[in-house]
Amino acid sequence: MDPRINPSILSADFVNLERDIHSIASADLVHVDVMDNHFVPNLTFGPQMVGRIQDVSPIPLDVHLMIDDPDRWAPGYAELGAFSVTFHAEAAADSIALARRLRQIGSRAGIAVKPDTAIEPFLELLPEFDQVLVMTVEPGFGGQSFIERVMPKLDALRAAVNRQGLDVWLQVDGGVTVDTIAIAAEHGADTFVAGSSVFNSGDPADNIAALRAAASAHPRH
Ligand code: DX5
Ligand code: ZN
Repeated sequence: MDPRINPSILSADFVNLERDIHSIASADLVHVDVMDNHFVPNLTFGPQMVGRIQDVSPIPLDVHLMIDDPDRWAPGYAELGAFSVTFHAEAAADSIALARRLRQIGSRAGIAVKPDTAIEPFLELLPEFDQVLVMTVEPGFGGQSFIERVMPKLDALRAAVNRQGLDVWLQVDGGVTVDTIAIAAEHGADTFVAGSSVFNSGDPADNIAALRAAASAHPRH
Protein backbone atom coordinates (compact mmCIF):
# COMPACT_ATOMS: atom_id res chain seq x y z
CA MET A 1 0.00 0.00 0.00
CA ASP A 2 1.24 3.50 -0.77
CA PRO A 3 2.27 5.43 2.32
CA ARG A 4 0.27 8.48 3.28
CA ILE A 5 2.24 11.61 4.17
CA ASN A 6 0.41 14.14 6.37
CA PRO A 7 2.44 17.30 7.04
CA SER A 8 1.76 18.93 10.39
CA ILE A 9 1.11 22.64 10.10
CA LEU A 10 2.28 23.07 13.69
CA SER A 11 5.64 23.78 12.01
CA ALA A 12 4.15 26.14 9.40
CA ASP A 13 4.23 29.93 9.61
CA PHE A 14 0.94 30.76 11.34
CA VAL A 15 0.78 34.25 9.80
CA ASN A 16 1.27 32.77 6.32
CA LEU A 17 -0.78 29.68 6.86
CA GLU A 18 -2.69 29.73 3.57
CA ARG A 19 0.58 30.00 1.64
CA ASP A 20 2.11 27.15 3.65
CA ILE A 21 -0.95 24.93 3.23
CA HIS A 22 -0.74 25.39 -0.52
CA SER A 23 2.97 24.45 -0.40
CA ILE A 24 2.00 20.94 0.79
CA ALA A 25 -0.70 20.25 -1.82
CA SER A 26 1.20 17.13 -2.96
CA ALA A 27 0.66 15.54 0.45
CA ASP A 28 -2.26 13.27 1.31
CA LEU A 29 -3.82 15.17 4.21
CA VAL A 30 -3.09 18.28 6.27
CA HIS A 31 -2.39 17.31 9.88
CA VAL A 32 -3.96 19.93 12.15
CA ASP A 33 -2.83 19.88 15.80
CA VAL A 34 -5.42 21.28 18.20
CA MET A 35 -3.94 21.86 21.69
CA ASP A 36 -5.75 23.29 24.68
CA ASN A 37 -3.04 24.04 27.28
CA HIS A 38 -4.63 21.41 29.55
CA PHE A 39 -4.16 17.99 27.95
CA VAL A 40 -0.77 19.25 26.72
CA PRO A 41 1.28 22.26 27.87
CA ASN A 42 0.84 24.15 24.62
CA LEU A 43 -1.94 26.08 22.91
CA THR A 44 -2.72 26.31 19.21
CA PHE A 45 -6.21 27.01 17.91
CA GLY A 46 -9.79 25.84 17.96
CA PRO A 47 -12.75 25.24 15.69
CA GLN A 48 -12.93 28.72 14.17
CA MET A 49 -9.38 28.42 12.85
CA VAL A 50 -9.82 24.83 11.75
CA GLY A 51 -12.92 25.86 9.82
CA ARG A 52 -10.94 28.48 7.91
CA ILE A 53 -8.14 26.00 7.23
CA GLN A 54 -10.77 23.66 5.85
CA ASP A 55 -12.05 26.46 3.59
CA VAL A 56 -8.68 27.19 1.97
CA SER A 57 -6.98 23.77 1.97
CA PRO A 58 -6.63 21.91 -1.35
CA ILE A 59 -6.36 18.60 0.52
CA PRO A 60 -8.51 17.13 3.32
CA LEU A 61 -7.92 17.65 7.04
CA ASP A 62 -6.53 15.14 9.52
CA VAL A 63 -7.40 16.78 12.84
CA HIS A 64 -5.41 15.65 15.91
CA LEU A 65 -7.09 16.76 19.12
CA MET A 66 -4.72 17.09 22.06
CA ILE A 67 -7.48 18.35 24.34
CA ASP A 68 -9.33 17.43 27.50
CA ASP A 69 -12.95 16.32 27.22
CA PRO A 70 -12.95 15.29 23.55
CA ASP A 71 -16.35 13.67 24.22
CA ARG A 72 -17.71 17.21 24.33
CA TRP A 73 -15.55 18.96 21.71
CA ALA A 74 -14.56 16.45 19.02
CA PRO A 75 -17.96 16.21 17.26
CA GLY A 76 -17.73 19.92 16.44
CA TYR A 77 -14.65 19.27 14.31
CA ALA A 78 -16.44 16.51 12.44
CA GLU A 79 -19.32 18.90 11.84
CA LEU A 80 -16.86 21.33 10.22
CA GLY A 81 -16.25 18.66 7.59
CA ALA A 82 -12.88 17.32 8.74
CA PHE A 83 -11.99 14.15 6.83
CA SER A 84 -10.55 12.60 9.97
CA VAL A 85 -10.85 13.45 13.68
CA THR A 86 -8.45 11.79 16.14
CA PHE A 87 -8.86 12.12 19.91
CA HIS A 88 -6.66 10.83 22.72
CA ALA A 89 -7.57 7.62 24.53
CA GLU A 90 -6.19 9.12 27.74
CA ALA A 91 -8.65 12.02 27.57
CA ALA A 92 -11.86 10.38 26.39
CA ALA A 93 -14.51 9.21 28.85
CA ASP A 94 -16.16 6.85 26.32
CA SER A 95 -13.93 6.23 23.29
CA ILE A 96 -16.37 3.88 21.57
CA ALA A 97 -19.37 6.19 21.87
CA LEU A 98 -17.28 9.11 20.65
CA ALA A 99 -15.89 7.21 17.66
CA ARG A 100 -19.41 6.14 16.69
CA ARG A 101 -20.59 9.74 16.92
CA LEU A 102 -17.74 10.98 14.71
CA ARG A 103 -18.52 8.35 12.08
CA GLN A 104 -22.22 9.15 12.26
CA ILE A 105 -21.44 12.80 11.51
CA GLY A 106 -19.31 11.72 8.55
CA SER A 107 -15.66 11.85 9.63
CA ARG A 108 -13.20 9.04 9.99
CA ALA A 109 -12.68 8.29 13.67
CA GLY A 110 -9.15 8.07 15.07
CA ILE A 111 -7.82 7.20 18.50
CA ALA A 112 -4.39 8.31 19.68
CA VAL A 113 -2.11 6.94 22.40
CA LYS A 114 0.78 8.67 24.11
CA PRO A 115 4.14 6.84 24.28
CA ASP A 116 3.46 5.30 27.71
CA THR A 117 -0.14 4.25 27.02
CA ALA A 118 -0.64 0.53 26.38
CA ILE A 119 -2.34 -0.51 23.17
CA GLU A 120 -3.59 -3.95 24.27
CA PRO A 121 -7.01 -2.73 25.52
CA PHE A 122 -7.77 -1.42 22.04
CA LEU A 123 -6.74 -4.40 19.92
CA GLU A 124 -10.17 -6.02 20.09
CA LEU A 125 -11.94 -2.69 19.56
CA LEU A 126 -10.25 -1.85 16.25
CA PRO A 127 -13.43 -2.22 14.12
CA GLU A 128 -14.73 0.87 15.93
CA PHE A 129 -11.94 3.05 14.52
CA ASP A 130 -10.64 4.12 11.11
CA GLN A 131 -7.21 5.12 12.36
CA VAL A 132 -4.92 4.55 15.35
CA LEU A 133 -2.30 7.21 16.04
CA VAL A 134 0.76 5.92 17.88
CA MET A 135 2.58 8.95 19.27
CA THR A 136 6.32 8.71 18.76
CA VAL A 137 6.97 11.78 20.96
CA GLU A 138 5.22 13.15 24.02
CA PRO A 139 2.44 15.26 22.51
CA GLY A 140 2.68 19.03 22.72
CA PHE A 141 5.56 20.25 20.61
CA GLY A 142 7.17 19.80 17.22
CA GLY A 143 10.87 19.16 16.72
CA GLN A 144 11.33 16.36 19.29
CA SER A 145 13.19 13.10 18.72
CA PHE A 146 11.46 9.92 17.55
CA ILE A 147 10.90 7.43 20.41
CA GLU A 148 11.75 4.06 18.92
CA ARG A 149 10.73 2.06 22.00
CA VAL A 150 7.04 2.45 21.05
CA MET A 151 7.52 0.32 17.90
CA PRO A 152 6.23 -2.89 19.58
CA LYS A 153 2.83 -1.16 19.78
CA LEU A 154 2.84 -0.79 15.99
CA ASP A 155 3.81 -4.43 15.59
CA ALA A 156 0.86 -5.46 17.77
CA LEU A 157 -1.53 -3.17 15.91
CA ARG A 158 -0.39 -4.32 12.47
CA ALA A 159 -0.78 -7.96 13.49
CA ALA A 160 -4.26 -7.31 14.91
CA VAL A 161 -5.41 -5.28 11.89
CA ASN A 162 -4.23 -7.95 9.48
CA ARG A 163 -5.59 -10.82 11.55
CA GLN A 164 -9.02 -9.19 11.70
CA GLY A 165 -8.89 -8.20 8.02
CA LEU A 166 -9.51 -4.54 8.80
CA ASP A 167 -8.68 -1.37 6.88
CA VAL A 168 -7.57 0.67 9.89
CA TRP A 169 -4.82 3.18 9.12
CA LEU A 170 -1.82 3.08 11.46
CA GLN A 171 -0.38 6.54 11.93
CA VAL A 172 2.81 7.73 13.62
CA ASP A 173 3.36 11.31 14.74
CA GLY A 174 6.46 12.89 16.19
CA GLY A 175 10.10 12.97 15.12
CA VAL A 176 9.34 11.53 11.67
CA THR A 177 12.24 12.18 9.28
CA VAL A 178 13.58 10.48 6.15
CA ASP A 179 15.52 8.20 8.51
CA THR A 180 12.93 7.38 11.17
CA ILE A 181 10.07 6.98 8.68
CA ALA A 182 11.75 3.79 7.49
CA ILE A 183 11.71 2.36 11.02
CA ALA A 184 8.01 3.11 11.46
CA ALA A 185 7.17 1.70 8.02
CA GLU A 186 8.98 -1.54 8.78
CA HIS A 187 6.89 -1.89 11.95
CA GLY A 188 3.65 -1.53 10.02
CA ALA A 189 2.79 2.17 9.96
CA ASP A 190 1.14 3.35 6.74
CA THR A 191 0.31 6.98 7.60
CA PHE A 192 3.04 9.42 8.60
CA VAL A 193 2.81 12.85 10.22
CA ALA A 194 5.81 15.14 9.76
CA GLY A 195 6.10 18.75 10.86
CA SER A 196 9.63 20.04 11.18
CA SER A 197 11.03 17.69 8.53
CA VAL A 198 8.57 19.14 5.99
CA PHE A 199 8.63 22.82 6.89
CA ASN A 200 11.90 23.67 8.65
CA SER A 201 14.32 23.52 5.74
CA GLY A 202 14.24 23.15 1.97
CA ASP A 203 11.14 22.94 -0.19
CA PRO A 204 8.08 21.31 1.43
CA ALA A 205 7.11 19.50 -1.80
CA ASP A 206 10.62 18.04 -2.12
CA ASN A 207 10.57 17.02 1.54
CA ILE A 208 7.20 15.30 1.09
CA ALA A 209 8.55 13.42 -1.94
CA ALA A 210 11.65 12.33 0.00
CA LEU A 211 9.54 11.08 2.93
CA ARG A 212 7.22 9.21 0.55
CA ALA A 213 10.17 7.56 -1.19
CA ALA A 214 11.80 6.57 2.10
CA ALA A 215 8.58 5.02 3.42
CA SER A 216 7.93 3.18 0.14
CA ALA A 217 11.46 1.74 0.18
CA HIS A 218 10.90 0.14 3.59
CA PRO A 219 7.68 -1.89 3.51
CA ARG A 220 6.89 -4.04 6.50
CA HIS A 221 8.54 -7.43 6.43
C1 DX5 B 1 3.13 16.98 18.49
C2 DX5 B 1 2.19 17.03 17.34
C3 DX5 B 1 2.85 16.70 16.06
C4 DX5 B 1 3.98 17.63 15.70
C5 DX5 B 1 5.03 16.80 15.05
O1 DX5 B 1 2.43 16.89 19.67
O2 DX5 B 1 1.13 16.12 17.50
O3 DX5 B 1 1.92 16.61 15.00
O4 DX5 B 1 3.63 18.67 14.85
O5 DX5 B 1 6.14 17.58 14.82
P1 DX5 B 1 7.52 16.96 14.34
O6 DX5 B 1 7.28 16.25 13.06
O7 DX5 B 1 8.41 18.14 14.20
O8 DX5 B 1 7.98 16.02 15.43
ZN1 ZN C 1 -0.12 15.70 15.76
